Amino acid sequence: MTYPNQIEKLLRCALEKTSIAAELPADLEIQVGPSTDARFGDYQSNVAMVLAKRLKTNPRALATEIIEHFEPGDLCQPAEIAGPGFINLRITASSLEAGLIAQINDPERLGLATLPASESKNIVIDFSAPNIAKPMHVGHIRSTIIGDCLSRVSRELGHQVTTDNHIGDWGTQFGMIIYGWKNFLDQDALTADPIEALLEIYKKVNDACSDDAVREACRTELVKLQQGDAENLAIWQQCVDLSRSSLEKIYAQLDVKFDHWLGESFYNDRLAPLVQSLKDDGLAQESDGAQCIFFLDDPDLAERAPCMVQKRDGGFNYATTDIATIEYRVEEFSAEHIWYVVGAEQKLHFDQIFAVAKKRGLDTQLSFIPFGSIMGKDGKRFKTRSGDTVSLTDVLDEAVERAAKIISEKNPDFSAQEMAEISRIIGIGSVKYAELSQNRLTNYIFDWDNMLSFKGNTAPYLINAYVRTRAIFRKLGSEFEGIQSVQLTEDAEKTLALKLAQYAEAVPTVLTDFRPNLLANYLYELANTFHSFYEHCPVLRSEGQVRATRLALCDTTSKVLKKGLGLLGIQTTERM
Ligand code: ARG
Repeated sequence: MTYPNQIEKLLRCALEKTSIAAELPADLEIQVGPSTDARFGDYQSNVAMVLAKRLKTNPRALATEIIEHFEPGDLCQPAEIAGPGFINLRITASSLEAGLIAQINDPERLGLATLPASESKNIVIDFSAPNIAKPMHVGHIRSTIIGDCLSRVSRELGHQVTTDNHIGDWGTQFGMIIYGWKNFLDQDALTADPIEALLEIYKKVNDACSDDAVREACRTELVKLQQGDAENLAIWQQCVDLSRSSLEKIYAQLDVKFDHWLGESFYNDRLAPLVQSLKDDGLAQESDGAQCIFFLDDPDLAERAPCMVQKRDGGFNYATTDIATIEYRVEEFSAEHIWYVVGAEQKLHFDQIFAVAKKRGLDTQLSFIPFGSIMGKDGKRFKTRSGDTVSLTDVLDEAVERAAKIISEKNPDFSAQEMAEISRIIGIGSVKYAELSQNRLTNYIFDWDNMLSFKGNTAPYLINAYVRTRAIFRKLGSEFEGIQSVQLTEDAEKTLALKLAQYAEAVPTVLTDFRPNLLANYLYELANTFHSFYEHCPVLRSEGQVRATRLALCDTTSKVLKKGLGLLGIQTTERM
């Protein structure tokens, strides 16, 4: 059990002995969080203030009464009151020692509890989902990195997770692509770089579309595809296969895996019956030849654009596919939760399909997890110099190149192979960490120098902290051997032990509001805490129990950093 959970229990016991015991609200939540100022304690609770407000009594007097009945046992020192009625608590050294030993004896989970079976859910996570034959641009990177982190964290906590890459492999763009394939295809370019070649085709057709005849020809190709024309289907299939293999390379570089790739086309057969059933239920209505849902009983949605599920020409919409997808996920994966990691600009779409799912009585909890845009250093949307969207492959390649340059300056002795491996880890890790350390809703500035810096809240800084912990054991000439008991005397040791224990508090917070940055911040604080410990407390130059304890702290820091970064999808290296 985490320290806040234990403190909460003790506070509840104390409250039950106070004069207001009979008046305690049944739904009372006792909040215990880290102290804002470490001089006053490790943790803090505002329960006296919250309760005093509800019961209209004096908060400080209530706090005094609570701490009189508070029996800290070995857990913490006697509670203290601060300000208008905060209760401050400091964990005892013996409790921190026991905590550190427990963490050492749990090298896999490092103290992180697994959810009880009743709280473990079937969760489908829908992320990345680029569109075929359009470039996977740097915006998709946010979805990919955040979604991957959420799936790692949920799995670690004990949820049953299914990841699904709902690629855009069907839709109007294929009319243009097929027309372009038939008229502008450059076979050599296609072999060299399929995504780039398809993109070129797309651009050429887009330009040619100023001609009405070309636009009409594209439409004809699309209709033929939708009607199952063999030649067009074969071209489409080839485009999908080529794009998929290019995408797989990018995901391999990013170390991201999916359980499924059920793209939009997978749902084709389900769309006509779905629209029929929406009509039968009176949900969809004809409007100007199209089928739309108007949400007349929902004032908020009613005043926005209707949700179209079938176009006038009989074609189906993005929303139709997504409704079919929810039904499939509930049936096939018994999804109790479905999470969508998609850009904020698609909010209306998700509000609409979630409302439809509810009306259809689908028993699953749907969450839209939006994120902001990536901006260039000039504060505008991130673009190449020529104004194109920045391709993800280019970004990743550049990240690795830049990392290689920095590392070879710092340490020219690595072999070519080591160099390649380390710069991949640092380069990709930097791009990921720059994303994950931000509040996902803010627009963040893509700045190479910042993300690759060895100072500050960056991947190189964190990976370097890990490397420093490993260097200690290399110098020692052996791995950490385990330990029966530790003795924490210096403040820097206690602070580090407490930070290490807080790993178990930090990981679950990621899922409260889908915020990987809370884990990133925790790891950053841990690295800082480790560095100040390492400055104040010599490790290899100390002796006996002191040395053994310090080695234990170093080894646990090493493990927590590696595990924590791993949950962010970031790898570590032994040297850099
Ligand atoms: N392909 C879409 C895009 O790039 C994202 C799909 C998100 N997932 C979904 N189920 N709609 O904008």
